[in-house]
Amino acid sequence: MNDMTPTREQREAKLEGMGCKRKRVEDARFTQGKGNYVDDLKLPGMLHGDFVRSPHAHARVKSINSEEALKVPGVLAVITAETLKTVNLAWMPTLAGDVQMVLADGKVLFQNQEVAFVVATDRYAADDGINKVVVEYEPLPVVIDPFKAMDADAPVLREDLAGKTTGAHGPRKHHNHIFEWTVGDKDLTDAAFRKADVTIKEMLSYHRTHPSPLETCQCVCSFDKIKGELSIWGTFQAPHVIRTVVALIAKIPEHKIHVISPDVGGGFGNKVGAYPGYICAAVASIVTGKPVKWVEDRIENLTATSFARDYHMTTEIAATREGKVTGLRVHVLADHGAFDACADPSKWPAGFFNIVTGSYDFPVAHLSVDGIYTNKAPGGVAYRCSFRVTEAAYCIERGMDILAQKLGMDPAELRLKNFIRPEQFPYHSALGWEYDSGDYHTAMKKMMETVDYAGLRKQQADQRAAFKRGETREIMGLGVSFFTEIVGAGPSKNCDILGIAMFDSCEIRLHPTGAGIARVGTKSTGQGHETTWAQIIATEIGIPADDIMVEEGNTDTAPYGLGTYGSRSTPVAGAAIAMAARKIKAKAQMIAAYKLEVHEGDLEWDIDGFKVKGLPEKTMSMKDICWAAYNSVPPGMEPGLEAVSYYDPPNMTYPFGAYICVMNIDVDTGVYKIRRFYALDDCGTRINPMIIEGQVHGGLTEAFAIAMGQEIRYDDEGNVVTGSFMDFFMPTAVETPHWETDFTVTPSPHHPIGAKGVGESPNVGGVPAFSNAVNDAFSFLGSTHIQMPHDYWRNWRAAKSLGVFA
Ligand code: CDP
Repeated sequence: MNDMTPTREQREAKLEGMGCKRKRVEDARFTQGKGNYVDDLKLPGMLHGDFVRSPHAHARVKSINSEEALKVPGVLAVITAETLKTVNLAWMPTLAGDVQMVLADGKVLFQNQEVAFVVATDRYAADDGINKVVVEYEPLPVVIDPFKAMDADAPVLREDLAGKTTGAHGPRKHHNHIFEWTVGDKDLTDAAFRKADVTIKEMLSYHRTHPSPLETCQCVCSFDKIKGELSIWGTFQAPHVIRTVVALIAKIPEHKIHVISPDVGGGFGNKVGAYPGYICAAVASIVTGKPVKWVEDRIENLTATSFARDYHMTTEIAATREGKVTGLRVHVLADHGAFDACADPSKWPAGFFNIVTGSYDFPVAHLSVDGIYTNKAPGGVAYRCSFRVTEAAYCIERGMDILAQKLGMDPAELRLKNFIRPEQFPYHSALGWEYDSGDYHTAMKKMMETVDYAGLRKQQADQRAAFKRGETREIMGLGVSFFTEIVGAGPSKNCDILGIAMFDSCEIRLHPTGAGIARVGTKSTGQGHETTWAQIIATEIGIPADDIMVEEGNTDTAPYGLGTYGSRSTPVAGAAIAMAARKIKAKAQMIAAYKLEVHEGDLEWDIDGFKVKGLPEKTMSMKDICWAAYNSVPPGMEPGLEAVSYYDPPNMTYPFGAYICVMNIDVDTGVYKIRRFYALDDCGTRINPMIIEGQVHGGLTEAFAIAMGQEIRYDDEGNVVTGSFMDFFMPTAVETPHWETDFTVTPSPHHPIGAKGVGESPNVGGVPAFSNAVNDAFSFLGSTHIQMPHDYWRNWRAAKSLGVFA
């Protein structure tokens, strides 16, 4: 080795592979305003579409008159349900097995529902046209309170379902009932409750909120009449699924549909489903022969395009006097709004809510979920969450704190006592999941030591004493949360969307000079896939990450994939990437053996190439193998170096984490101060620690927003009262707390690189940490549970109801 020969460390560092804090390659364009979003797209002759929306939450549509609108300069067409009926598209199927009106057909069922689509030469003309469409409504009684939806005299919302006693998920008990879903052993659970020393029961509401990505939902549809081809550029988290859905409902052959997701400004579940805007823009393009753009505004996005949560969970835990949990019973009233358009894998009407036993060794559990219709927007998307896992984590983590309070035990101690032990993995939960790996005690103890948990409890006791002596008006809360996520939908045995198994895919093609391209079935909406996917390849096949271009979001070039949501990208596509890379490596080994004139088995992998065992100077780098792949492969071998892998995971992955929030609340104003927030995450093998930290910061910020104020709220008439960022809490850097992050590493045993997902975890674990902090603060005044969101007003109201203003 001469002085110029790079060391092993230098060779490894050059790759910027897994474990490296590689800077995000996509940021070069984003930070310089060079991103390419849907609204940047301008096609020749492009028209613009915009919606007439209903001011009523429930009303019969008696007539729609477009005469005056069509006189507005620039307005070319007004599309209504009647127009859509001519192409059989007035209603569309939802991912949850229901149907949904594309445009109001006879009546409207929620405020801001799409009633007519005005197509014009520009956005302003479309808007003028909207104001001239005359719609005659006859208001009907509304159902907003989910607890009244199944009253005997509740108005019938879905007249189209009249007489249907069975829905997509079994029998319907009432005209506003969608499904009942039960899991677990009811008899054994009831018996555990009968025998229990201690039980708790509390109705825990997880309010309706919204993912509100920075970029709203939008698309450009362009139908080429000559070729019979439809191109759709859109803000899609799952472009291939959109292509298949369009092929099925518009009856256009799938190879003639081109779906492209360019840069997308945040998804958080909001951009998984198919919305009326996409259908109307496509129909308008087919009708006019011109490209048509649809871009929703903020109010439309918040009020009509999906929602998240709205779960009302009656939670019961049975335990021994010593604090060992013996049973869990949960009933959920799930408010799905006007149509069941939940974006869950087909078989799971309440997503993966049956992860609700959390991190604890419950011997028995029983869960029942009733889905119901109300006069609210449809959706139920997984807002930075893996299909209702956030709701489940909130349910069990609040439940454990309430149990601790009843037992007079410390909440951290109660958790340590009930955690699934390391030797129990793979662990079969009472509600049917197989947890892959975990070491909960280590994570919890690391969190407690780092923050000096005992010291904080002492401080809290002192503060409470001072409050009682009248020396302070501040109360202090410690919010502990320990979550287990279930991400990586999913194994085909569990998960499909409209019958398509939820695998994912990667195709890698290496070029002669040792660079290459990787095309993946996922679609980054800000998570940095272009950076991290190249890191997996760099470690697997020794090509520097900088020399791998990652491409996603074009259905013509990417292999079929199910897209990005629910932190599935790393567990599923990340595995497909490693598997495709390994296929390439296997071929590369044959080429290297041929060139080095040895047997394949005599070679071993060494960072960025192969070396002959026992002859370290006899090597062939991956770069040289790439060249050889295009000019001198072994006889009989096809030239080139590329591979594709479709990965159907054997199981989900189960990341976990220990969080704590330290909060002070001023009882006179309700104003809270987040003094400290510590988040320890375990997502198995870490691909890019810097990106993970970014994901955790983002997820915690959204958790903070949801727990402390973000809400889609309705008045009694069904008007959305939080329909803009004036009312819907969107934290800025001013309000956002400082985050402390930490980690442990417990690899997934079944994932090729041991990685689990991470993007959703901070939201899943963060919300209960904030809520537990508020509830812990108030608990010494005699409160058991205060519902979220915990804004200043509600904190003040809670203080008032607890009698602190004597
Ligand atoms: O599906 P989604 O991309 O939203 O979530 P994810 O799989 O949790 O990945 C989010 C980002 O974190 C991606 O850029 C991943 O590559 C990165 N990540 C990582 O570096 N190491 C992990 N163990 C998990 C995710």
